[in-house]
Amino acid sequence: MDTYVVIGHPINHSQSPAIHQQFAEQTGQQLDYQRLLAPLDGFAESLRHFAEQGGCGCNITVPFKTEALELADELTERAQLAGAVNTLHRLPDGRWLGDNTDGAGLVMDLKRLGFPLRGANILLVGAGGAARGAIAPLLAELPAKLVVANRTSARADELAQHFSHLGPISSCPLDELSEPFDIIINSTSASLQGEMPALSAQVCHSTSRVYDMMYGAQETAFLRWAREQGLAERHDGLGMLVGQAAESFYLWRQVRPNMLPVLNALRATLQEQL
Ligand code: ATR
Repeated sequence: MDTYVVIGHPINHSQSPAIHQQFAEQTGQQLDYQRLLAPLDGFAESLRHFAEQGGCGCNITVPFKTEALELADELTERAQLAGAVNTLHRLPDGRWLGDNTDGAGLVMDLKRLGFPLRGANILLVGAGGAARGAIAPLLAELPAKLVVANRTSARADELAQHFSHLGPISSCPLDELSEPFDIIINSTSASLQGEMPALSAQVCHSTSRVYDMMYGAQETAFLRWAREQGLAERHDGLGMLVGQAAESFYLWRQVRPNMLPVLNALRATLQEQL
């Protein structure tokens, strides 16, 4: 049986085994997918051991995505651009191909939700790893402009500069944003602490659409703020999670699973936790 793992620290919370098992059932693929807890200083060793046992592929999560980039023998262009690897694929000659499917998962979910990306004014809040992975796939959808805003504005400036050759990207200090955007995406981890980046209400118009890459059983702080602004289109990142998994599954198995039933099942499980 082909074996796959998701490697992280911590890893208990990971939904990836449930997602990939459902993808496998849905597409009639025979595979085994488990969680693998690597010691904080033992990612390379865990990966080597998994490879020796004949492992076919892995997903990489916090805090090992940069280390996975360094350990990969070959990188896809989108992994290079993202500066992080969330998927490793064992090539026939035994080497590891590093890919990053996070940004593709985000765009897949935005399209599923009917967000019109082409020609849109997009605000990306945050400038960490999650933002970095999203920028190239968002610019590939030809927005009118993509503005990156971050609490530490120098990080947003760096990202905008780094990706300037790919499209109309700029940066703006969080507290100086004063124009409305069609699409507002939160990539910050603020929601995890129940916090909200200091965003002015002026970034919204009456039909702005909001997406939070974070998700949880409860409404995130970012989506609560969007509700308080009177916005109807508010979505969390559960679909992005399923979307990035679908892209990894495709890389490994060359079969495209259907996201929707898996997303519905995950949503139902989350609701049960309330
Ligand atoms: P990730 O890889 O998940 O993006 P990261 O690289 O640590 O994680 O980045 C976290 C992002 O969330 C950053 O943009 C961070 O802002 P700073 O660069 O100013 O630290 C942002 N963030 C975290 N907590 C925040 C908060 N309470 N308010 C605003 N931004 C916050």
